[in-house]
Amino acid sequence: MSAIPNSRYKRSDKLGEGTYATVYKGEDTQNGAIVALKDIHYDPEEGTPSTAVREIALMKELRHDNIVRLLHVEQTENNLVMVFEFMDKDLKKYMDTVGTPGTGALDAGVIRRFMFHLLQGLAFCHDRRVLHRDLKPQNLLISKTGVLKLADFGLARSTGIPVTTFSNEVVTLWYRAPDVLLGSKNYDTTIDMWSVGCIFAEMYTGRPLFPGNNADDQINRIFRVLGTPTYQTWPLLPELPNAKSKTFTHHNPVPLPSVLPMMDHLAIDLLSRLLRYEPSQRIGAKEALMHPYFSELMPQQQQQQQQQQPYNISRIGGRGGWIN
Ligand SMILES: Nc1ncnc2c1ncn2[C@@H]1O[C@H](COP(=O)(O)OP(=O)(O)O)[C@@H](O)[C@H]1O
Ligand SMILES: [Mg+2]
Repeated sequence: MSAIPNSRYKRSDKLGEGTYATVYKGEDTQNGAIVALKDIHYDPEEGTPSTAVREIALMKELRHDNIVRLLHVEQTENNLVMVFEFMDKDLKKYMDTVGTPGTGALDAGVIRRFMFHLLQGLAFCHDRRVLHRDLKPQNLLISKTGVLKLADFGLARSTGIPVTTFSNEVVTLWYRAPDVLLGSKNYDTTIDMWSVGCIFAEMYTGRPLFPGNNADDQINRIFRVLGTPTYQTWPLLPELPNAKSKTFTHHNPVPLPSVLPMMDHLAIDLLSRLLRYEPSQRIGAKEALMHPYFSELMPQQQQQQQQQQPYNISRIGGRGGWIN
């Protein structure tokens, strides 16, 4: 534990390093609380980085049980520190340490709970027209009591997603929606829903669903599983900038249950609604929370509502149940 000059916080272990920041465990000397200190990297000559300012403005408004709480912001001459509630670990580390040894796969009950938390946090954001835009296991934090919270809103409203991090790591494409990969600039809440689908599948296997090495490889990996899109599955495809002059190798879709045999039929149905090519066809966060996959977690009143507007689960296995 070391004191930071002119700061009310003491700093200890490094917790993580990401796109713009280094995060340390810390202690609030005023009340002894354990916190996370996010040191924003920036050149003092260039002023406070706009991404950090954006993240701060956003986080202050976003108060929800499934969103990591920003407690305080400390700005000194050439340092900007965001003080967050302390969380035990991110979902990536959770899978590596709590998941099945060797694979990192999680228990079906834990996955259901995490998905519910993730969608509740996201529904709250989307209701306020806030997009996350960089959902991935490293940006989802798990508390000691097993609550999942969304973190790292740094990219939420920025116009461009950086290609490399400050430590020169390539920004991962694995959770990026196919419309974004193909050059769509029309960002809306649907891009987060694609990422949710990728994370959902990853929790069952412990392995990323589409671990592409570059944008072309990324899109090809998606096509090899979900099938190369057609006019039927993606009517607006030809209008996307990076799809216009391209012909894609034809791949037939692989039925999702054979890719993910450990997922039950309700989980597969929800996944198929998250991984739709056509963004407008992707299920939204609020709607996903009503999916029968969550029936066990729902208060009775909500279950009754759901029974009044049942999902057509009988389509599972037939056309439209998953992308085909
Ligand atoms: N509140 C927190 N409690 C515990 N660990 C955290 C917290 N915030 C971030 N971390 C760890 O630090 C990493 C980087 O933080 P993040 O906010 O994602 O920064 P970046 O914008 O640099 O990616 C996370 O992946 C996580 O492992
Ligand atoms: Mg991050």
